Amino acid sequence: MEYTLRKAEPRDVSDILRLVKELAKYEEMEHQVRLTEKDLLEDGFGETPFYHCIIAETQENSSDGLKVVGFAMYYFTYDPWVGKQLYLEEFYVMDEYRGLGIGSDILRHLSDLAMKTRCSGMMFVVAENNESSVNFYKGRGAEDLSQEEGWRLFRFDKDSLVKMATPAEE
Ligand code: ACO
Repeated sequence: MEYTLRKAEPRDVSDILRLVKELAKYEEMEHQVRLTEKDLLEDGFGETPFYHCIIAETQENSSDGLKVVGFAMYYFTYDPWVGKQLYLEEFYVMDEYRGLGIGSDILRHLSDLAMKTRCSGMMFVVAENNESSVNFYKGRGAEDLSQEEGWRLFRFDKDSLVKMATPAEE
């Protein structure tokens, strides 16, 4: 299977959204995807990109000869104990293209990037019931911090933020 990895470009936003939705469906949370192509375009390709993507593209099965079959979305975060970290937000390869090494290649690419930018690690969250993915990461040396260090994942949703924020002036 011939494929290439490349940085996402603005023209990729429809494929990125398609894959985001496929991953959400795989995780049985499709109804939570509210993002639009416009959001992805503004947030990833404006003056201050809030995310970056690596795209896996094959030469097959498409009228123009190219098909986006996988991606990783990431950004940089900062840990006050150890410094720069790569945060892997989304990682997905379409079902029929799995097991061909594309995912491992994407991780290699991200590891190279982490080395180049002197990151001290790569963080990510995996659903507890996504066993095949947990095994995929553990097989490559990932530590399960919830288990080993007892961290819990929290979020303030927008309603909570509005309650805490300075009230809007009438
Ligand atoms: N389907 C899945 N895995 C297979 C298959 C298959 N048909 N055939 C073999 N495998 C095994 C491989 O042997 C390999 O095992 P290994 O760990 O012993 O090397 C592994 O599964 C797949 O390796 P790759 O081919 O390098 O990776 P792939 O291209 O399949 O991508 C990924 C891995 C992204 C996890 C993919 O399986 C996937 O999209 N899964 C569903 C979505 C998902 O769970 N994404 C991660 C969510 S967590 C997050 O986003 C931070």
